[in-house]
Amino acid sequence: REDLMFTYKGIPYPTTLCSYEVFKAMESFEARSDDMILAGFPKSGTNWFGHILLELITTFEKKTEVEPTIYGEEFDEFPYLEVGDTEKYQRMKKIPFRRVIRTHLMSQNLPKSVFTNKAKILLLLRNPKDLATSFFKFSKVMAPFPTYDSWDEFFKDFMTGNIPWGSYFTYLSEWNKHADDEHVMPITFEEVKENPLLGVKKIAKFFELPLTEEELKGVAERSSFQAMKNNSKETHGVFGNVLFRKGGVSDWKSLFSEEQNQEMDKIFEECLAQTKLGAKIKYNVWCK
Ligand code: A3P
Repeated sequence: REDLMFTYKGIPYPTTLCSYEVFKAMESFEARSDDMILAGFPKSGTNWFGHILLELITTFEKKTEVEPTIYGEEFDEFPYLEVGDTEKYQRMKKIPFRRVIRTHLMSQNLPKSVFTNKAKILLLLRNPKDLATSFFKFSKVMAPFPTYDSWDEFFKDFMTGNIPWGSYFTYLSEWNKHADDEHVMPITFEEVKENPLLGVKKIAKFFELPLTEEELKGVAERSSFQAMKNNSKETHGVFGNVLFRKGGVSDWKSLFSEEQNQEMDKIFEECLAQTKLGAKIKYNVWCK
């Protein structure tokens, strides 16, 4: 399992997706104030929110008849900042404006220009129990991630942060330092699941993509779990079934023992309960 990960600045990453070379090359990345950054720990709904953004931008650009800015030939889909080849930063430079960039990185490991140049960051949050559940199920079938024979084994590594991209609790504590930044908007998986139209409206407003009620409704419908799952063979090939697994809330109850449940409650209480992001993850509602 150790062979599948390497450590960079104290955080483990999967060797199949990231490398020292990419992190070095990332230093040449210069963020812009019109960049749209989608930040979220793996399994927090990155593909879902990426799709919402894609729908919002294409709808907006179609109606305003501006030159489409969506990556086109340069990339198949929105690039992850720290995943892929070392040449990507050069290709990203060619995108004239409104670049959408995804990242699983903790805030302190992002290029500094993201904060100094005030790129807009949509910070995706998900209740840690469902995120751990989703991560475990994903690890079982996805070759790039270390796999686990049992949930108990995975749970231990999740709690100590010995998984790709490290500890979710550290992730949340670090990002909490930016919870009040005006160019950062935290949003939860659960609030958008509960009210997709309201979620889509918040995102459109944050990124200054003015659309009509009808258009926003269309975006919400085309981004529903079912719509995305139905489309997943086309968009993600054989990975479709893995990426669009259940898309719900509270699946953690099928895996956690009472002891594990208490252990996670305890760590949350200790490091996140008093924080702004902790409050956003309405722990008592979604995790108990
Ligand atoms: P589950 O494994 O709990 O089903 P990521 O894209 O960051 O890897 O996150 C994957 C999680 O987001 C999966 O969770 C997946 O089902 C869920 N998901 C993907 N698209 C979704 C959608 N349109 N609505 C709700 N959940 C979605």
